[in-house]
Amino acid sequence: MTSIMFKGAKIISTGSAIPSTKLSNHEISEIVQTSDEWIFTRTGIKERRVLQNLDQSIIDLAVAASNKALNKISMDANEIDLIILATSSPDDLFGSASKIQSKIGATNAVAFDLTAACSGFVIALVTASQFLQTGSYRNVLIIGADVLSKWTDWSDRSTCILFGDAAGAAILQSCDVNNNSVLGFQLNTNGNYSNHLSIAYKQGSYPHPKLNLYQGSFKYIAMNGKEVYKFAVFQVPLSILNCLKSLNISVTEVDWLLLHQANERILSAIADKLSIDSSKVISNLDKYGNTSAASIPLALDEELEQSKISTNDIIVIAGFGAGLTWGTIVLRW
Ligand code: UT7
Repeated sequence: MTSIMFKGAKIISTGSAIPSTKLSNHEISEIVQTSDEWIFTRTGIKERRVLQNLDQSIIDLAVAASNKALNKISMDANEIDLIILATSSPDDLFGSASKIQSKIGATNAVAFDLTAACSGFVIALVTASQFLQTGSYRNVLIIGADVLSKWTDWSDRSTCILFGDAAGAAILQSCDVNNNSVLGFQLNTNGNYSNHLSIAYKQGSYPHPKLNLYQGSFKYIAMNGKEVYKFAVFQVPLSILNCLKSLNISVTEVDWLLLHQANERILSAIADKLSIDSSKVISNLDKYGNTSAASIPLALDEELEQSKISTNDIIVIAGFGAGLTWGTIVLRW
């Protein structure tokens, strides 16, 4: 899918933040029946970061990632017009983006949350570029942040080995249409399979005998890992191929494949299906596990910090997860 474009859009800075506490496979093997060997060979994960400090929340991670992105380019937060927080684990069901707006001092920005689980950052990137390419806004801050450790069933070995907490941010700016970097995208949802991965509503008790209603809360993460695995390996290559085809870009022109960091075997299977060499596949799963909406911006920020990505490189980014929702966005760096 391409859009009507009056202006171009490009990422001008990135930042990321992780909690200081590491949780190794070995430590998890002390609470559920698993082993470092099982986790590493089935997922590629060695350790993950978890938010342990009671005084810290997703807001602190998101603010730290955002400030790093702002500081790298010495941008005043007042210049930001829009903040999109992609998260499924906000501090507040009404949204956490406004707290970030306040804490970084982006007084001129409107801020809202976007819930699309592990595809959240890709959809935030698409949404931001729409506002920029139509000329509505000049500077947009997008953040992918999740603290799924708060929503993990720590007695369920099929899920508690996977997730970690983190935040990643990117600042996008409008530019001349000839310098456009966000080339195109392809997004999909199949809600028939939403039950394969959810943090479902939990019916609570009656608040008062005279009131015929109940108050709720949420359950922990429930996942049919096998089905999500099959869905990702089948659908994501198709989305990438469709997106590249619509842009007249061949797979051989792809310099970097940046997939949602869910499982090393999923990354390899998708790359194999596309005949993309493993040297082009960005992966940091071993250190952080699956950080949901944060996984793509965290990996992108790390690659940029290591100066691995060069000007004009074609980066294919694809997210997939709960919804089930999946999608691709193609950037020319
Ligand atoms: O970001 C959202 C997207 N989420 C995903 O992408 C997750 C996709 N799915 C996966 O990554 C994989 O399905 C898992 C890593 C979750 C599981 O790997 P798997 O190779 O699909 O394992 P499985 O579910 O087929 O289980 C194989 C065996 C089972 O035992 P039996 O029935 O063969 O005796 C499980 O009970 O492994 C067992 N098992 C474990 N054993 C040790 C499941 N979890 C564990 C564990 N440690 N942590």
